[in-house]
Amino acid sequence: MERLLIEGGVRLHGRLRVAGAKNSSLAVIAAAALAPDQSVLENVPHCRDVLIFLDILRVLGVKAEFTAQGHLVLDARTLVEHVAPYDLCRQMRASIYAAGMLLGRLGRAEVPLPGGCVIGSRPVDFHIRGFEALGAQVMTEHGFLKASAPQLTGATFYVPRSSVGTTINLMLAASRIPGLTVLQNAAHEPEVVDTAVFLSFMGARVRGAGTSTITVEGTEDLHGATYTIIPDRIEAGTYLIAAAATHGDVLVEELISEHMTALLTKLTEAGAVVEQGPTGVRVKVDSDLRPVDVDTAPYPGFATDLHPQLAAMLAVVAGRCAIRETIFEKRFGYVDELRRMGADIRVEGDTAIITGVPHLSGAPVEAIDIRAGAAMVVAGLEARGETQITNLENLDRGYEGLEEKLRGLGAQVQRLPV
Ligand code: EPU
Repeated sequence: MERLLIEGGVRLHGRLRVAGAKNSSLAVIAAAALAPDQSVLENVPHCRDVLIFLDILRVLGVKAEFTAQGHLVLDARTLVEHVAPYDLCRQMRASIYAAGMLLGRLGRAEVPLPGGCVIGSRPVDFHIRGFEALGAQVMTEHGFLKASAPQLTGATFYVPRSSVGTTINLMLAASRIPGLTVLQNAAHEPEVVDTAVFLSFMGARVRGAGTSTITVEGTEDLHGATYTIIPDRIEAGTYLIAAAATHGDVLVEELISEHMTALLTKLTEAGAVVEQGPTGVRVKVDSDLRPVDVDTAPYPGFATDLHPQLAAMLAVVAGRCAIRETIFEKRFGYVDELRRMGADIRVEGDTAIITGVPHLSGAPVEAIDIRAGAAMVVAGLEARGETQITNLENLDRGYEGLEEKLRGLGAQVQRLPV
């Protein structure tokens, strides 16, 4: 058990490079296991969710090794097992990608119902309906989703509501099925597009990713591929928000600024100076920030995964702000922790109403999920005095080298044993 100690009040300044996208990496790693072949992935973050997912795949027979920073070599020729391990899958949402992968690769899958952040009920009913549309028989029994099909067939499936996981899982299975699958109302997120591009490199014909209709012409002859994962827009957004919250000046290099439009628009509206250049995005604040209202929404709307961090920033902005959460009904777990630090936030239905206080004061708080943990980091950086964050395993699920990156920006941060 470890804790993070942050001495607040330092303006972040400098530059940093973000890691590859965690949520793309998880999907692309699952895709690589569809082919009985070797794949090489670059820019894979060394964060806990990725490491757990690799352990899940190892139990299924895949060989996986980081041979240099961000450089992951996967060999799925030896994948034989169709039952995924319960305890590992319980720890993360993306373990459900093992179901789409195994169903496509072996025609059967037994995958525990996934765990992950406690931010809503997060059912897998859309995934199940999608697999059934492809011809699988699916049931849930003893905590497992069990799917099998002697013969899967391409089909048209309307994703009931914009769902990143459902869109990716069905692209995975469909890529291995000869014939045409059409996904309507598909999610538009960059991580969906990244996965689609990698599947195309593997030999599937995937069209329309990034729009509402994705077509997949699958093949049994998928092969391995070499691919570089996109930069992590949520990690980048977290550092940019931290820069604004501390009235700092930070350049985040080598990110795809188009993925950040909703956040950068809000930061500008709040009074930050945002510069988008060929090498990255710079956020600078040298006067008081203004209140803003935000609704989270599927891409290209404001990402739900940046909601808690933005709330931490707005907690000390004079005036009243509202953040309406439209994706996950229980995303507000961070609120009680921010209140410990003196924030004035109340939740009314799906909306957090934030009344700015002059300053937060450091306190012992918990990282109750990945992004709530990131909000505690932002709050600790802008607070007066020392903040102690525990439950770091949640932060480590999604942030590689957090304290090194923050120290590189001048923050006073230490990781210590509890
Ligand atoms: N939903 C259902 N049934 C389903 C699937 C989804 O009702 O079968 C609902 C969800 O409960 C939610 C909405 O549909 O209300 C959208 O969920 P989605 O499927 O898009 O989310 P996800 O695939 O489970 C991914 C990311 C999350 C991110 C969301 C939204 C991964 C591994 N996770 O989750 O990331 O918040 O998309 O963008 O890609 C994080 O990284 O901290 C994180 C939580």
